[in-house]
Amino acid sequence: MIPESIAIDGPAASGKSTVGGGLALRLGFFYFDTGVMYRAVTLASLRHGIPVTDEKQVSRLAAQVAIDVQPPTVDDGRQYNVLLDGEDVTWAIRSAEVDADVSRVAAYPEVRAVLTEAQRRIGQRGKVVMVGRDIGTIVLPDAEMKVFLRASAEERARRRYLELINRGKQVDYKAILEAVHRRDAIDSSREVAPLRPAADAIIVDTDRIGIQGVVDYLEALYKQIHVRGATETV
Ligand code: CDP
Repeated sequence: MIPESIAIDGPAASGKSTVGGGLALRLGFFYFDTGVMYRAVTLASLRHGIPVTDEKQVSRLAAQVAIDVQPPTVDDGRQYNVLLDGEDVTWAIRSAEVDADVSRVAAYPEVRAVLTEAQRRIGQRGKVVMVGRDIGTIVLPDAEMKVFLRASAEERARRRYLELINRGKQVDYKAILEAVHRRDAIDSSREVAPLRPAADAIIVDTDRIGIQGVVDYLEALYKQIHVRGATETV
C-alpha cells in the first residue's frame, strides 16, 4: 500500500481534474494529472512534423522529450505548469489538434511504458492524488483509495463545451460530443491499459451529484479509509 495516495480514473471530461485538484487541495496532497504527459508527447510529435500514425518515431520521441509538471506560476486558471523541454506548454496541450490525436498516441505500448514508469516514480512518494485512465489498474494498483468517475457522454460534452467557451474559444457542441465518443471508444478498446474501473474502485456517478458534492463525499470517505488503515496496522 502506498500511504496517502489516491487514484482517480474516468473517461474524457468526467470531472477528474476538478475532483482531483479539489481533493488534493483539501488534503494537502500533490495533484498529478497524467493526461498532460500523453498530451505533451502528442504536441511534441505535431511540432516535430512526425505523423501520429508513425508508432516507431512517436515512441522514440516519447523517450527523448523531457516533460515536467510543476506548481502553477501564472494566475490564469491553470492548476499546474506543464513544461516540454523547458517550454511552458500548459495551454498548448489543450488545443483541438492535440485532443484529436492524443488517444492514438496513448494507445502505443512503448509510449505508455515510458510515461507509466515516470508516473509510478511520482506516485511512490505518496501524498498524491493522481488522475488518468489506468491509475487504479496499472500505475498505482496499491493506492490507498481508488475512484472511478462516470458521467453520460452528453453531460461530459456539455462540460467541455462550457470550459472552452469560458476560455474564449469558438466551439461546436456536436463536434465536441463526437470527439468525446471517439476518444472513449479508443481509450476503452486499446490492448494496453484500457479504460476500466479497478475491481476495488469506488464508482461515482457525477451526473447526479455536482462536482463539489463529489469532492465533499470523497474527502470524507478518504478520511475514514485512512483512519481505518492506520488503526488496522497498529
Ligand atoms: O481531460 P481529458 O479527460 O479530456 O483527457 P486527459 O486526462 O487530458 O487525457 C488525454 C488522453 O490521454 C486520454 O483520452 C487518453 O487517451 C490518454 N490517457 C491515458 O491513456 N492514460 C492516462 N493515465 C491518462 C490519459
